[in-house]
Amino acid sequence: MSKITSITGRILYNSRGNKTIEVDVKADKNFLGRVCAPSGASVGKHEAVSFPNGKPEEGLRILKENANKFLNLDPSDLKSVHESLRSIDPTENYSIIGGALAFAVTIAAMESASMALGEPLFKTLSKEEEYRFPFPLGNILGGGSHAGPGTPDIQEILICALGSKTIREAIETNFAVHQELRSVLEKTYPDFTYGRGDEGGWAPKLTNEKALELSAKACENLGFSLGDEVSLGVDFASSTQWNEQKNRYVYDRGGFENSPEEQIEFASNIIKKYKLIYAEDAVHEEAFEDMAELSAKFPKTLIAGDDLIVTNKKILKKAINAKSCNAAILKVNQAGSLFDALEFAKEANDNNIKLITSHRSGESTDSHISHIGIATKSKMLKVGVVGGERVAKLNELIRLSEHDLIRGMAEI
Ligand code: PGA
Ligand code: ZN
Repeated sequence: MSKITSITGRILYNSRGNKTIEVDVKADKNFLGRVCAPSGASVGKHEAVSFPNGKPEEGLRILKENANKFLNLDPSDLKSVHESLRSIDPTENYSIIGGALAFAVTIAAMESASMALGEPLFKTLSKEEEYRFPFPLGNILGGGSHAGPGTPDIQEILICALGSKTIREAIETNFAVHQELRSVLEKTYPDFTYGRGDEGGWAPKLTNEKALELSAKACENLGFSLGDEVSLGVDFASSTQWNEQKNRYVYDRGGFENSPEEQIEFASNIIKKYKLIYAEDAVHEEAFEDMAELSAKFPKTLIAGDDLIVTNKKILKKAINAKSCNAAILKVNQAGSLFDALEFAKEANDNNIKLITSHRSGESTDSHISHIGIATKSKMLKVGVVGGERVAKLNELIRLSEHDLIRGMAEI
């Protein structure tokens, strides 16, 4: 059995240039697990807080003061590592230590265990006979809280190459659509600056409708039919528009407002018109019944909860009872520790809720989530298309395609 012989941390920076925390866990003095935590911009009300009082330094101080609580634990015993964290922070939303620290400590421990075992991380995370690749789901055009004024209110238009037979083909197809979309934007708007949002999607000054139309055009220009070789998805991130006082969704940039009923209609029209395979947070984070209406209407589309479920097992159970979603986003740092996230994944898989493991808008260049996506039997991996911190995850999938344990693409 391996033992944790040291645990240390440091302050680094994420893809937005904001401070974050990195943790090194060493097993048997030799085997290093190193994890740098991401953080979100469109953050759900009920997710784990990133840092105690918003301060990464405070998380680091707590780690240093409590390092001995982790020493001599078996790094592959995720439950024990998690329980040590919980002995420091029993709060539901990790307000004492921050979700970023919980994320980094638990994943780094498992990585050090995988190093000691001489096996890839996905195998240490989950023992299966065979594994599948999740389909990469990439942001080709962005707006909302990931891009500036004038961009669409809708946060993300996404591409997924569901017709691809290999992971390389799926990744290359996403790149091709992203590139073609640039040409389409350039031809339509000669003053397009090639500006991109936080996750690498183009961030042009466009209405929601036009953004969707041009994204579809980019696919068609490449000879693809929507719903065949490629499909579009949308993260509405509609809690950003939701105004509780008004009881309406306020689309500042589009200059219109939707009642809850109109919002369902608005999302339904987009799902139908663009044959979306994926629709995330089409209604706000507490609208479980409205989500259920969409799920009933579109059984073939992944109706996914991100801010709605925040990788929280209790909330997932509520969503399952209300039949709100047939799919759920898994972001480890929303849950807090990897242990919490894997428990969440089990609950989802046991209830036929399709998982989409996801990056955050403020990312590190780590690629652990590629392994987590495989180990949790995720159908899709939402990691963007371009930008070093996004491509890092995609490149890791290509490396992993050298393993014969992974037998092809997920079945959606
Ligand atoms: P976030 O965005 O990381 O800013 O929360 C990603 C998403 O909403 O899917
Ligand atoms: Zn989202």
